[in-house]
Formats: sequence, C-alpha cells, structure tokens
Amino acid sequence: MILNRRHLLQSAAAAFLMPRVASAGFAPLNARVAKYPIAPASYPETVVWTYDGSVPGVELRVRQGDRIQRTLINQLPQATSVHWHGIRIENAMDGVPGLTQDAVEAGASFDYSFVVPDAGTYWYHAHNQSIEQVARGLYGPLIVEETVAPDVDQDLVLMLDDWRLDPETAQITDNFDNGHDLSHAGRIGNILTVNGSFDPAFAVRRNERLRLRLVNASNARIFDLDLDGLSGWIVALDGMPLDTPLRLSGSFPLAPAQRADLIVDVVTEGETASLVSVERDGSFGLARFEVGGNAAGAHRQGVSALPPNPLPEIGNFQRARAHQMVLQGGAMRWLESGRLGGTELSGRELAQLGKFWALNGYAERPEDPFLDAAVGSLHRIEFVNETAFPHAMHLHGHHFRLIMDDGSLGPWRDTVLVGRGQTRQIALIADNPGNWLLHCHMLGHAASGMMSWFRVS
Ligand code: C2O
Ligand code: CU
Repeated sequence: MILNRRHLLQSAAAAFLMPRVASAGFAPLNARVAKYPIAPASYPETVVWTYDGSVPGVELRVRQGDRIQRTLINQLPQATSVHWHGIRIENAMDGVPGLTQDAVEAGASFDYSFVVPDAGTYWYHAHNQSIEQVARGLYGPLIVEETVAPDVDQDLVLMLDDWRLDPETAQITDNFDNGHDLSHAGRIGNILTVNGSFDPAFAVRRNERLRLRLVNASNARIFDLDLDGLSGWIVALDGMPLDTPLRLSGSFPLAPAQRADLIVDVVTEGETASLVSVERDGSFGLARFEVGGNAAGAHRQGVSALPPNPLPEIGNFQRARAHQMVLQGGAMRWLESGRLGGTELSGRELAQLGKFWALNGYAERPEDPFLDAAVGSLHRIEFVNETAFPHAMHLHGHHFRLIMDDGSLGPWRDTVLVGRGQTRQIALIADNPGNWLLHCHMLGHAASGMMSWFRVS
C-alpha cells in the first residue's frame, strides 16, 4: 500500500489522540495547554500551561497521613516534572530533574506516590525550566487537612500570582531569559491574580469566620499583604502551625513560594472586605469579599493554635554544626568571578552565559553538595546576603526553624526571605535521607546561578 500524505496525517493524528491513561490506582494529573481568562473580561483569554485545564491546577485536598497517587501525563511541548513544595517527602518523589528523577519528556508520563506527613497549606509546581513553566501557569494547591479542623465557616485557598502579559493581546510575554530581569529582582509582572483571576469576588456574611490559605505562586514578586474589613490572626506559615497565633496588625510579607494561613472574622460594616497588596504608590485590591447579610451570632472571640505537626525537636541548636551560605552577584554587586562547569569564569564571561548570581562562589548547582549531613544531625545555616536584592531561600524535603535576632527559635518554614544586605540564620535537623535542592525561589535567580543542594545520608 502506498502511504499518501493523507494517511500520514491520519496516523500522526491517531498517535496524538491516543488516550494516555494513568497507572492503576493512580489518578491522572494532565499537564496540558489550555486557554484561561486571566485578564479582565474585556481581554481575550490567555494561552496557559495547566494541570488539568485550569489556573491554578486542580486542587489536591487530602487528610494528614494519606497517600497521594498521581500519574503526571505530559501533554506539553516541553519536558516537565512536578515538585510537591513543602511536603517532607520521600526523595525519589521530589520532582527535581537531574537530582531525583529524569525530566518527563513530552508525551511521556511519571507516577508520583507519596505520603503527606504534615497537615497544612502546600502547593505543587513544575520543576523543569521552572522560570518558564511556573510563569505559564503550572502550579496548584495541595491542601492537607488536620484530623480535627479548626472551627471556621469557610476554608478558602487564595493562590496569588503575578503575570507578565502583552497589554494588547493578553498573551504571556515569553522573554523568560531576559538578562535585565535575571540580574535584577526577577520577572515582575503587570497583572496580579488570585486563583487565576483578576480581582475575584468571594461571597461571605458579616461575622463569619474564614480560614484564608494564602500561597504566593509568582516567579519573583514579594507581596506585602493587608486586609480591609477582616480581622484576625496568622495561624500557620509555610504549612506549619505557629505555637501562638499572631494577631494581625498592619501588613505582612509573603515571598515567592511562601504560604500563610489566616483565621479572620468578617468585621466590616460596609458591603465588601478585601485582601490588598500594599505598593509604593498605594494599596491595590487583590480579591473582594462581598458581604451578603449577617451570620447568625456574633463573631467568636480568640483563636486557638492549630494542632502541631510531627516535626523533629531542634533542642539546643548552639551545639549545631555551623555553615555559611553567601549570596552573591546581581546588578550593582556584579560577580567578579564564579565557578561554572568546573572552571572559574570572570563575571563578564558568566553574564554572557546568562549567569548573574552565585552561592558560595558557584554560579550553578555544584558537583559536590553544600552540606553532607548524617541522618538526624543538627545544623545551623547562616545566609549572608551580599547582593542588592532580597532572596527567598528554599530547602527541599525539610522544614527548618528561623533563629531570631535575640537567639530564640522562631517559626518553622521551608522558605526564608533574606533581605538585601541581611543575614538570617536557620536551625535544621537533616532527618530526611536523599539529595535535596537549596535555592532561591525567585525563579529567574535560580536559573541564573542561585542553586545549590545538600545530601542527607
Ligand atoms: Cu518550590 Cu525547588 O521549589
Ligand atoms: Cu534570589
């Protein structure tokens, strides 16, 4: 039989349309291109990359101690992987190409199976070419419910993002390797969204109590958040409950990848309450809470701490092994030199190769780990930010505790914001075996040098 062009087209189409299915016992997680109304209604829909067709991707909501089983089915035009951010996960499931798995090629699939040990607010996102893939929309919420949930009327997940769209077409500007962004604050956008929508509205009643799970999914923007007409507490950071809830007064920062769980009461006398982003030139509404009547009864007084997660005891961290990680480079503090591919290159040479930053002198993930830890050992890491920009340093597979300026132990986190010129210390029990990334979560910084790793064995 002679194959003509028509046959070829048909068989290519057949191959393309062949249904890919999830493995037995696994639900599918389809990474695919879709259109989504990111910009206000007067604009066209934006072509985005999604998990299961929406931005954010499908909400994964499970109980503490459950096993998640998902087959990532890659229908994107690019290799990808999924990282389950903040989950103290088994190393092989951490989703880091080149360290814990191979990238999943276009058309291929990968089975993720893991237990979630801690309750709280987490998220998942692409971890291959993250600077592009997360910016295109590849992220979603991963919510782990407490066995005994706090008493609230509504539990709302609010995923914040910052998009850079062409102002005419509302399509994603695809200059991800723009040297100016990489060497400065990163890819800062021109439209802010909550759950993939510009200025969305949520229906509430006066005196209702809400749990707001805030997630910053943006590439580089550090939000400074405030509430209007809502009053309450921060009860958890990066998924982990605070020992004592922190009464909200004034704005609070949320760096890329960080989460904050709030419990707030609707106290406004007006028609709307809101979540606002505090900017240099005023406040900007991110989401509205439209008040439709009063809830029965007055709002409750006080709040209790969320039940603690089974985290290791830090104990006396003065005895911990001490390490220093120096954050170097970027605009205004240009690297003099740095190591790349086993050789020392000048800052100018590095810049030509798209590398602008370094961690302890390495402008890429080094061959040897920054830290080689025995399982269960205690470490103190001092992040020294010599650059002119803030950085959100994230450790995989572990949470750590901040060491406060007065030497006391602060909250548990998985991502710490280190301000320009600042030094911040953390205490870490390296109790999860495997190879783990340590990087800046400003994704352009990670792509252009701020990437390291540690080993626990
Ligand atoms: Cu959320 Cu290595 O990242
Ligand atoms: Cu950074």
